[in-house]
Amino acid sequence: MITLGVDFGGSGIKGCPVDVTIGEMVNERFRLPTPEKARPKDVAEVIGEIAQHFEWKGPIGIGFPAVIRNGIAYSAANIHKSWIGTNAVDLFHQATNCPTYVLNDADAAGIAEMRFGVGKERSAGVVIVLTLGTGIGSAIFVDGILVPNTEFGHLVIRGKDAEARAGDAARQRDGLTWEEYAVRLTEYLNEMEKLFSPELFIISGGVSKSWEKYFPLLKIHTPILPARFLNRAGIIGAAMYAAEKDSARK
Ligand code: BGC
Repeated sequence: MITLGVDFGGSGIKGCPVDVTIGEMVNERFRLPTPEKARPKDVAEVIGEIAQHFEWKGPIGIGFPAVIRNGIAYSAANIHKSWIGTNAVDLFHQATNCPTYVLNDADAAGIAEMRFGVGKERSAGVVIVLTLGTGIGSAIFVDGILVPNTEFGHLVIRGKDAEARAGDAARQRDGLTWEEYAVRLTEYLNEMEKLFSPELFIISGGVSKSWEKYFPLLKIHTPILPARFLNRAGIIGAAMYAAEKDSARK
């Protein structure tokens, strides 16, 4: 089965049809810039354009950078505050005329990695998937089962949200060397180790592509792996989520 996966990120909104039986994209990915301020109406328009680009008529899964319960957004750390209380499913449905399914973006990346990626053979115990991008997203799996909407990018470290210190946007904003970035990330991962005693960390998001530059510098006790799908994990996981929910509905 092929469904359209969309990843709503801080700088770009990207989509691609995905063969969810194998977890592979089947076209060239299509990316449009995230509208300034990321207001609901503007984001919906972009998602409508992505669906149109692929002349899409089937189910669409959308990874969304906020807490999402029953299609409604409950937080807005890096997007416009008017998202809070907005029914994202209805809005995207109106913009695309397709059945839409919305989940947290890090949960989407986690679903892809646990099913088809580096978490596939490693699902026993607690596995933590972190997306390092504009924010930090988290997806926590216990024996392969997702605990949704965990939001551990907002753990407070040195009086600041972890994502404001250890996200990729923070690395770029502060002009950090890889050594300096590794110090910040170590501090964050040590905190996560203390709280969860995970078996494995999986790192996804924009900066996962450069993992060779900073993984060897991390001082942590838990094994850590780059996501197999790197920053494509969000699209693939969102498509998988849509396929699963859509067949459950029928
Ligand atoms: C949001 C999360 C999201 C993460 C990555 C955070 O600021 O609160 O919901 O998963 O950014 O986009």
